[in-house]
Amino acid sequence: MSATIIDGKQVAASVTEAVKSVTTALEKDASVKPGLAVVIVGNDPASHAYVSSKSRMAKECGFNSIQHTLPEETTQEELARLVETLNADESIHGILVQLPLPKHLDADPIIQSIRPDKDVDGLHVVNAGKVATGDLDGGLVSCTPAGAMVFVRRTHGDDLSGLNAVVIGRSNLFGKPMSALLLAANATVTTAHSRTKDLPAVCRNADILVAAVGRAEMVKADWVKPGATVIDVGINRVPAPEKGEGKSRLVGDVAFDEIAKLAGVITPVPGGVGPMTIAMLMANTVIAAQRAYG
Ligand code: GUN
Repeated sequence: MSATIIDGKQVAASVTEAVKSVTTALEKDASVKPGLAVVIVGNDPASHAYVSSKSRMAKECGFNSIQHTLPEETTQEELARLVETLNADESIHGILVQLPLPKHLDADPIIQSIRPDKDVDGLHVVNAGKVATGDLDGGLVSCTPAGAMVFVRRTHGDDLSGLNAVVIGRSNLFGKPMSALLLAANATVTTAHSRTKDLPAVCRNADILVAAVGRAEMVKADWVKPGATVIDVGINRVPAPEKGEGKSRLVGDVAFDEIAKLAGVITPVPGGVGPMTIAMLMANTVIAAQRAYG
């Protein structure tokens, strides 16, 4: 058996097409253009690449797309003041502060100072709390888990009753909200992490296995139940001497080639969850804009 490979770019394109239609209607009916402000501090090349993709897609969706690029030496107070300004700006419906921030800055008070109704990352405790309590319509759901759930629903439907789901990773950005979303859809959920005993055995129990550990190809074929749905959230750069000296390539947290032979469904890296994160950010921004003029 070999797995069905999910085309994340194609699914993401259908989400962004829907976002574009809503954006057009909002402009026509209410003269409102969704506004997304993306804030990046410092020089991390990977973060700059992500932020450029987000800003570019926001423009493509017809948004008012604003990028604030702040120097590495920005102070906590300067960043806090920018968030305050964006909170008060009526033309901005979504605010995203790219993480990680430089080490001298404390991300949590910054994230918690974003107005929850503009928190299109879904990281404010109000939004995280809504997801944790199963209120999925009132707030804004964190983009990467929301995107991963689109794949899960397309494979298994809306009701995951009777299915075992294992999420490897317990971060606030992904693992915790992912587990909460699976639970809200009636899956039986295990949140595994670095202190979990016999992780391969725990994973072998999963009908839906979601890996977000940040370690290249850590999940091996003998960790996977035949026929399982495997969602790979990792993006790891590894050396690729076969492409030439000093070259690298991107791989996920799962050993794709060997697992694709036995899984039922699998997401590739790149081209799986990654494009969905950006698409769901666009969806959250248009939802925030709609609610502002509700
Ligand atoms: N860094 C990596 N992924 C994300 C994300 O989804 N949101 C933010 N704000 N920072 C990130």
